[in-house]
Amino acid sequence: MSALPTELVLGSVRVDTPVVLAPMAGITNAAYRRLCAEQGAGLYVCEMITSRGLVEGDETTKKMLVFDELESIRSVQLYGTDPVYVGKAVEILCGEYGVAHVDLNFGCPVPKVTRKGGGGALPWKRGLLAEILISAVAAASAYDVPVTMKTRKGLDDDHLTYLDAGRIAQETGTAAIALHGRTVEQAYSGQADWDAIGELVAAVDIPVLGNGDIWEASDAVRMVEQTGAAGVVVGRGCLGRPWLFRDLAAAFATPGGRSRLGSIQGAESRPVLPNLGEVRTMMRRHAELLSEHMGEERGCKEFRKHVTWYLKGFPAGGELRRALALVDSLATLDRLLDELDPEAPFPVGELGAPRGRQGSPRKRVVLPEGWLDDADGSGWHVQEDAHEVTGG
Ligand SMILES: Cc1cc2nc3c(=O)[nH]c(=O)nc-3n(C[C@H](O)[C@H](O)[C@H](O)COP(=O)(O)O)c2cc1C
Repeated sequence: MSALPTELVLGSVRVDTPVVLAPMAGITNAAYRRLCAEQGAGLYVCEMITSRGLVEGDETTKKMLVFDELESIRSVQLYGTDPVYVGKAVEILCGEYGVAHVDLNFGCPVPKVTRKGGGGALPWKRGLLAEILISAVAAASAYDVPVTMKTRKGLDDDHLTYLDAGRIAQETGTAAIALHGRTVEQAYSGQADWDAIGELVAAVDIPVLGNGDIWEASDAVRMVEQTGAAGVVVGRGCLGRPWLFRDLAAAFATPGGRSRLGSIQGAESRPVLPNLGEVRTMMRRHAELLSEHMGEERGCKEFRKHVTWYLKGFPAGGELRRALALVDSLATLDRLLDELDPEAPFPVGELGAPRGRQGSPRKRVVLPEGWLDDADGSGWHVQEDAHEVTGG
């Protein structure tokens, strides 16, 4: 078995551990990225923004393009369907925002996105995919900024695109490809297919990042061992658990990685798991960072959605949970957090359990009329959407 990777190299960008925070709309803002980065090394990608929104100076888009002062690598995920807009947007990101890494979203399964041929629908049009990547890479290369792409296996099991996408990424100078081992049709249901990630690794020479169903650091190690991926992209597993990045960094810090990880899972290592007191501190820090970046009122409102994730499996009464989910100031948050028992141990039953979105497969993938008739689509005009924020 080959050694685990200890770093991730994407063109000019070097990351101290082969771990990427998955872009998640509404989650991976500057505050959350900072919170995760305080736990351990990794590449922390900004929420998705649209090419057209950026090019047209849309205010919402601009507000999302905020970076923490300590953010050493500015990494942004871009959505786009038109090579011209995407190229211009990459130019703005690199030239005006000092962005050091651009990821392109070709995996979003949301019907209102795929209906227009965007996100996960786009790789079906191989020629158009190539045009977009060529345009992005050309704009970014002037700044020595690597472009990566993130995609799914395909539209559904009868319309797989990931191997072609990998080939096209390689041919266009894309620095890496991240594969979420599900189809658009599956959305977040079922289990991610790690074999597909392994197949892609075998088919291309550029780094492949494996994505899907990493709930614990041990899953990340298993995925890399099983697939040969150059690194992992972690999404839902870190919801309410930013310390997962600490575990991930430790797991990939070889040569002790594997045994260290074994002990994280073992009885003697239980202290590594945070008790409710430590989780409480993490929650406070998260709300504080959100408040610093957005102002206290908005920051606390943003924090609300994270409460259930943080408290999953811990003892906390229904009334307290409800009050926390309505928090509107840091002072109220402090008062409520005080009611949580700091000694309560980590609920080990939650280890390895899925969290966040799951749901059921889509009945069908919504696509533009005639989309499947032609698998090339060079020069095809897919209308750019300025306000798409759903992302995943
Ligand atoms: C709330 C949420 C928002 C997401 N937003 C995006 C996004 O903007 N761009 C993207 O490429 N993927 C997005 N995703 C998908 C994740 O990046 C990731 O591919 C997916 O959750 C599978 O990885 P996981 O099993 O580690 O969660 C989102 C997922 C969730 C749960």
